[in-house]
Amino acid sequence: MSSLVIVGAQWGDEGKGKLTDYLAEKADVVVRYQGGNNAGHTVEVDNETYKLQLIPSGILYPDKQCIIGNGVVLDPEAFLNEIRNLENRGISARNLRISDRAHIIFPYHKKIDELSELKRGSDDIGTTKKGIGPCYADKTERIGIRVCDLLKKEVLAKKLKVNVELKNAYLKKMYDFEGYSYDEMLAKYLEYAEQIRPFVEDTSVLIYDAIKAGRKVLFEGAQGTLLDLDFGTYPYVTSSHPIAGGVCIGAGVGPALIGKVVGVVKAYTTRVGKGPFPTELFDETGEHIRIVGKEFGTVTGRPRRCGWFDAVIVRYAARISGLTGIAVTKLDTLSNIPTIKMCVGYRLGKKIIRDFPASLEDLEKCEPIYEKFKGWGDISDITEYNKLPTSVLRYLERIEEICGTRISLLSVGPKRSQTIMIDKF
Ligand code: GDP
Ligand code: IMO
Ligand code: MG
Repeated sequence: MSSLVIVGAQWGDEGKGKLTDYLAEKADVVVRYQGGNNAGHTVEVDNETYKLQLIPSGILYPDKQCIIGNGVVLDPEAFLNEIRNLENRGISARNLRISDRAHIIFPYHKKIDELSELKRGSDDIGTTKKGIGPCYADKTERIGIRVCDLLKKEVLAKKLKVNVELKNAYLKKMYDFEGYSYDEMLAKYLEYAEQIRPFVEDTSVLIYDAIKAGRKVLFEGAQGTLLDLDFGTYPYVTSSHPIAGGVCIGAGVGPALIGKVVGVVKAYTTRVGKGPFPTELFDETGEHIRIVGKEFGTVTGRPRRCGWFDAVIVRYAARISGLTGIAVTKLDTLSNIPTIKMCVGYRLGKKIIRDFPASLEDLEKCEPIYEKFKGWGDISDITEYNKLPTSVLRYLERIEEICGTRISLLSVGPKRSQTIMIDKF
């Protein structure tokens, strides 16, 4: 395995955490390159369940270097809690490094996220309210505060003063919210700074050196292609770039240094939060998938919206991220459904659409064109590809055909052992 990117090819929660953990066994370095603690990656190992948000899923191996790249937005309080919780369970964070260029989330980011969602009323995005959007907005506005600033008392004091004044004025005017004490926030963040300091490094150098030395680097995407700021269902997206291209900017790696890109897809589709979803099911099959697949958000506990597999979406993700392989997860969740449907195109008026449209107004009018497939029984104990029922193989072959991409890996349950490798990594 050379450097390998794992990206979500739908609306997030595809099982990236499970796959990262599985593939990390053969990797040396595991890197998060975007998003923040809006992510929720569940990993099951030896009857233990870990819910990772900011920390790369490679942390469960004692010998892997884990990196939080510059493209991640870091909430120090959430980060330190996550580390504490892991350490309480015997997982050490000593091999973890944070980029000195990552941007920091402050309480005003979370408050603005919360109040702006409230103000949008029924037009809300359905964010995780972790302050992700407002923090990235400050980054683009060029008033953000980075990890390297946090570590220099005078720099932090100066930048935080400007920000607290600005945000307090904004919060008062827009939401009649009293605002924050600069002194208290400064004191708190100076404390965080000392706790975070030992982890901080120029992580782009670490990654470059690792690749040059022939070590294997795994990039763990958060969210998914349709939540990408540019290529997702804008404005119902997150504020970062989960697609493979996001690795270059979010980790500081040149594109030629990236080897393979695996897109993770569920055998069906889910989405948390608002926005159009052409194959969404509102019937008992949707409810059945939600219950059997335990489709409830890791971060917010919200029930995930469930629907049939949408090959238009995955074909789009394959193009946008240049997928070299697809990993299909949760095939076991579809067990015992007599007839399974797959969307292979959209009908928009008289037109047939095979490439995912930009306009949400068009997308809302798109009607899925379905193909039907015979279902299958319990497959959760199968460990070899050619032992899978023919009906599963048919379903998978059709995915490969429409998406023009090989299926490299399958998952038939949450555990490491419930993984079927097809390609070598
Ligand atoms: P991520 O955000 O992409 O890492 O995905 P999540 O962790 O939010 O959601 C995936 C959920 O499905 C987690 O609870 C996993 O433990 C679980 N999971 C992953 N792969 C499989 C699978 O093949 N079958 C089943 N039944 N569960 C799986
Ligand atoms: P993982 O990494 C699923 C969704 C939110 C909302 C939108 C914007 O576990 O796949 P944000 O708080 O990011 O500004 O919210 O994005 N969202 C996710 N949905 N999985 C995630 O992460 C998500 N992270 C954000 O529900 O619709
Ligand atoms: Mg998740």
